[in-house]
Amino acid sequence: MSDCISSAESEARLKTRTNLRSKARTKLVAKPITKPITTPIFYASGSPHLGHAYSGFIADTIARFHRLLGEEVVLITGTDENGQKIERTAQAANIDLYDFVTGNSRAFRQLWSDLDLHFDQFIRTTDCDHHKLVTNIWNKLVSSGDIYLGTYKGLYCVECEQFYSHWQLGEGCCPIHHKPVEAVSEPSYLFRLSRYRGKLLEFYQLNPEHIKPSHYQESIIRSLQTETIDDLSISRFNVNWGVPVPGDSEHVVYVWLDALFSYITALEKEGVAEVGLCESGLSEATHVIGKDILQFHCIYWPAFLLAAGLPTAKEIVVHGWWTFGGDKISKSNPATVVKPVDLAKELTVDGLRYGLLRQKPLARDGNFNLSEFKETINSDLSNNLGNLVKRHVTLVNKFYQGSIDCIGHDSLNDSSIALIEESSAAIIQIRAAFSNSDLQLVCHLANKLISSANRYIHLREPWKYGKGNDTENVKETLCIINAVLRTISIIFSPVIPTICKSIRRQLKLSDQNFLWPTSCDLSDVAVEEASTVFERLKSSGGSS
Ligand code: MSP
Repeated sequence: MSDCISSAESEARLKTRTNLRSKARTKLVAKPITKPITTPIFYASGSPHLGHAYSGFIADTIARFHRLLGEEVVLITGTDENGQKIERTAQAANIDLYDFVTGNSRAFRQLWSDLDLHFDQFIRTTDCDHHKLVTNIWNKLVSSGDIYLGTYKGLYCVECEQFYSHWQLGEGCCPIHHKPVEAVSEPSYLFRLSRYRGKLLEFYQLNPEHIKPSHYQESIIRSLQTETIDDLSISRFNVNWGVPVPGDSEHVVYVWLDALFSYITALEKEGVAEVGLCESGLSEATHVIGKDILQFHCIYWPAFLLAAGLPTAKEIVVHGWWTFGGDKISKSNPATVVKPVDLAKELTVDGLRYGLLRQKPLARDGNFNLSEFKETINSDLSNNLGNLVKRHVTLVNKFYQGSIDCIGHDSLNDSSIALIEESSAAIIQIRAAFSNSDLQLVCHLANKLISSANRYIHLREPWKYGKGNDTENVKETLCIINAVLRTISIIFSPVIPTICKSIRRQLKLSDQNFLWPTSCDLSDVAVEEASTVFERLKSSGGSS
């Protein structure tokens, strides 16, 4: 069985820059307003790739949006370190199992740090507190009569850590990894999943927006209505690396049951959960997941929670895959591996996160193409946004020595009123797009507003100050652009935080405690020296 380690021990070993909040770990402080946002916990079986970074950026962007709404957010990630897949990979590499997972877990922590992603909790499933929680949950499910000992026969994909039915396989191979599955017949503890079909259907009828986008919810409802829902094997007999089944050390707990409950281990560590008292802190949670792990999060997970008498998460946001040369980016296909840190060096972190969120709808697959990324990033961040900021700050410095007193609303010209109204409308539309986790739409709407501001400045030609353009007109133009840029620096900050920080600095605005605005308002203008908010990227020449 795997040796669990205490979190104090593991944190001492892992001196990383991950920003763990020093919160009182007092149990039982139920804080209903805390909003947990989670990434999946990543298999510690190799180095992170672009697909993993994508999950991290999405969760971080959603977290930043909720913080702007004034909510208390807990951002959770971690590594999935138990199970047969890890055991075999470490054995094949001839590395001590614990050293193997520690090294890979460290690589994920380092990735988050390199990508400026600050998680509040990083869970390792080999930690003692997590083992303890899984043991408690197991006992709870035994007492509710949801676990029994039987035998399980099935076709298992070790890569997915999942049993498949014949009809789900293509020529005997798993549909995700295209590798042969293994016939397994072993004593096993089973979870009475079949009991929960009706309850799950009822749950989805009562919560029509639980899974986003909605077509994933429809597909889950269809499979609950039409497919056989068998009891689920939740222990493995011939696997040594995992959480021992309480009272039967010949078995380890199925790695997915173990992994899913890591979300609650994290909340217990944050002091917002107490499983013993049926309070999991999950009811406000957003789980960000890839489409390949839909069934685990949308059938097994709510069924486990219902059985344990715990509330389910608020919503599941599903994203599609990044492919490279048409194939899914994956550790098991080295030709597809795109290293996120190298890319962040080339595109900047904001450039990379913007490209990933802007280049494809969240739920669809998209092929990664470096030159297309660079083209979009240059056009949107350097030309459109960067030029607007530079022009504004330069002109305020040139004609008004860096500051302008606020002008009144009453005398505004029609085109100024139109842009202010468009900005106020964008605040509402972009908020709705964030709430629907439609992050590509957020990018489109923000760009549209920036383009309108650029058109406005072009038409009003403030650079012709004193040369045919009257001073009041120039002052009005710069005050309006300033109001739009202030708005942009807030509402676009969940997507491009560093660039927005730089805009706020140049506009002499505080970088602390700003909240989502309700309208675009005029105010006094003050600027620093102009500097470039986004350096144009050099074209790479290649196509991918
Ligand atoms: N360990 C499980 C999750 C347990 S959560 C309780 C797992 N790990 S994983 O490392 O294989 O995948 C983690 C996440 O990365 C998944 O959401 C998966 O969809 C995502 N991605 C892995 N490859 C991807 C792409 N090529 N593109 C986008 N995301 C992909 O599953």
